[in-house]
Amino acid sequence: MTNNIIIFLHLMAAAVAIGSMVFSVILLLPSMEKIPIQKNSEEHSHPYKLVELLAPTVFTSLLILIGTGIYYLLENYTGQMGLKPGYYNLFGMKLICVVVAFFLSLYQTFNLRAGIANLDLSPENRGLVPKTIQQIKKTTILILIVFSLAVFFGIWLARF
Ligand code: HEM
Repeated sequence: MTNNIIIFLHLMAAAVAIGSMVFSVILLLPSMEKIPIQKNSEEHSHPYKLVELLAPTVFTSLLILIGTGIYYLLENYTGQMGLKPGYYNLFGMKLICVVVAFFLSLYQTFNLRAGIANLDLSPENRGLVPKTIQQIKKTTILILIVFSLAVFFGIWLARF
């Protein structure tokens, strides 16, 4: 039962992260970019609100994935004696994807997003908003690619 709950949380976190990235950056943002942003109201624009929520959502989901992934390994460590050769090669490939996603998401949340946070306190950063939104869009596409690879390796691992 514990395994089912851990994998349920693992999969839900992956679904929330990938779902938010696909919806925000592939579906919603391109259609919102056609609406011009009014000067001095950048923090009230839809793209701003979107990336403001997206970056921490992906980062939190990633933390849940790392936590549940490690917990799953700890719960099942006795069963890992009988794993087929090659399991840890796949696991290593998956972890490379996770590490890349982690650092990109960290950069997005605590560097890019933080740079345009609290615009009422630092109005001089208003000019950075359009460029930062584009940078968050580009890093999200990279995160989406490595995340999808991690899902693929995860599914492969579970059936190895
Ligand atoms: C981007 C982050 C991650 C994604 C998207 C992801 C996704 C997945 C998916 C889709 C599965 C398949 C579940 C199934 O079909 O039953 C899985 C399984 C698994 N994941 Fe992750 N995962 C991530 C991070 C991690 C991390 C950081 C760890 C461990 C440190 C981890 C450990 C595992 C383990 C042990 C399994 C089960 C493999 C088995 O049943 O033998 N995952 N993951």
